[in-house]
Amino acid sequence: MNRHVLEKGHSAYPIGSAFKISPNRFQPRSQPALRYRRHLFQRLCLLGGISLILLLLIFPSWRAAVLPTLSFGLLASPNDLHLQTVRYYDLSEVQGTEKGWERGERVLMCTPLRDASSHLPMFFSHLRNLTYPHELIDLAFLVSDSRDDTLSMLSHMLEDIQNDPNPKMPFGEISVIQKDFGQKVQQDVESRHGFEAQANRRKLMAQARNWLLSATLRPTHSWVYWRDADVETAPFTIIEDLMRHNKDVTVPNVWRPLPDWLGGEQPYDLNSWQESETALALADTLDEDAVIVEGYAEYATWRPHLAYLRDPYGDPDMEMELDGIGGVSILAKARVFRAGVHFPAFSFEKHAETEGFGKMARRMKFSVVGLPHYTIWHLYEPSVDDLRHMEEMEQERLAREKEEQERAGSKESTQPQTPGTEDAMDSEKLQGSAKGPAAHPAKDEPVKGDSSEAEGAAIMDTVKE
Ligand SMILES: *[C@@H]1O[C@H](CO)[C@@H](O)[C@H](O)[C@H]1NC(C)=O
Repeated sequence: MNRHVLEKGHSAYPIGSAFKISPNRFQPRSQPALRYRRHLFQRLCLLGGISLILLLLIFPSWRAAVLPTLSFGLLASPNDLHLQTVRYYDLSEVQGTEKGWERGERVLMCTPLRDASSHLPMFFSHLRNLTYPHELIDLAFLVSDSRDDTLSMLSHMLEDIQNDPNPKMPFGEISVIQKDFGQKVQQDVESRHGFEAQANRRKLMAQARNWLLSATLRPTHSWVYWRDADVETAPFTIIEDLMRHNKDVTVPNVWRPLPDWLGGEQPYDLNSWQESETALALADTLDEDAVIVEGYAEYATWRPHLAYLRDPYGDPDMEMELDGIGGVSILAKARVFRAGVHFPAFSFEKHAETEGFGKMARRMKFSVVGLPHYTIWHLYEPSVDDLRHMEEMEQERLAREKEEQERAGSKESTQPQTPGTEDAMDSEKLQGSAKGPAAHPAKDEPVKGDSSEAEGAAIMDTVKE
């Protein structure tokens, strides 16, 4: 269902109709002779018009021949199409080039949404900050299987941005499509990322992406940019940055920040990888409908992952050829989709959705690259384990605080407190909480223990699953 189409930009127009006649308001003072002549002329015109209509009614075959000549014949060259209902497109004009923004190339930005209302403010902040000319970006949203108020919130935010007083803010054509796919898996981190649920989840996601794209891709689009709503940090110039590589499919590296006690940061998107011999051998042993989901211990594929190749100081323009890709942020030339590459909702070479998309694009000889040192940051959503862990830490912190207060209280009664001790206690508290619950809060222990590092590594493994 296409609920909203807020049109600000142009999409397409028939050749020959893109002009306007502005009425001339100048009226000379009329004189009797002049008035008479004008009346006569008007009557003749009326008579001519009526007889023409009668003729057209009597001889329908005239219509096709006469009408275009009368309406546009003088204005359009004979080879052009004249009918209002016919659109003419030259697809050689929308192939996609490295400086699309200079050539006015249109980008279709696709975002699937599911119970995403909490992410929408951040997502719209990203939209506002995009430096690619907004009027060249058409937005497409798919709202599916949502139980929160994603749809109404989205409508409000779209209205705000399209009515923004800043003329550079409004986007082109916007489509919001609503369709449920029966995603039954809960949207929390645990169930979304659990291994069992993956294959099915990915197939449904693939269908959702295909629906969204096939409903909104227009012949005017040169590029398609897929972007998830839960990206926390990304360069404002990301579309141009990816476009400059002029590849058929380009993805950045995707990491996520972590709380300090988990190590500060971590690779997030493990779906961008290069094929390996081990994985190909594994694929051969699997059932034809099986889907390998990368990043899970169940399938040890030994594939080089884009995420692990990151060097924070590496050249952000460096490219790496990929076979499978993740879906957080994909810039692809529209011609890739027009050629028939899609997100397989079935096992294609033992992969589905975006990983299958990467494989299919490669199979059709399109270029697929990742940028190992160009990183965007996915939102960190604590897992149930993390939350439990944090709660324990908080409780221990409170307990420690209480203990210290009691101690301070007993000290106070014996000796007056010096200003220095309070500072020392504050910093102690901070260090104590950073240390994590595994380190026992024996008060005079050295603060930086090995425990926190060991813990970080273990959690890395569990998150990788
Ligand atoms: C967008 O830009 C503003 C101003 O530079 C900044 O405060 C805000 O955090 C940016 N939004 C995002 C999501 O990066």
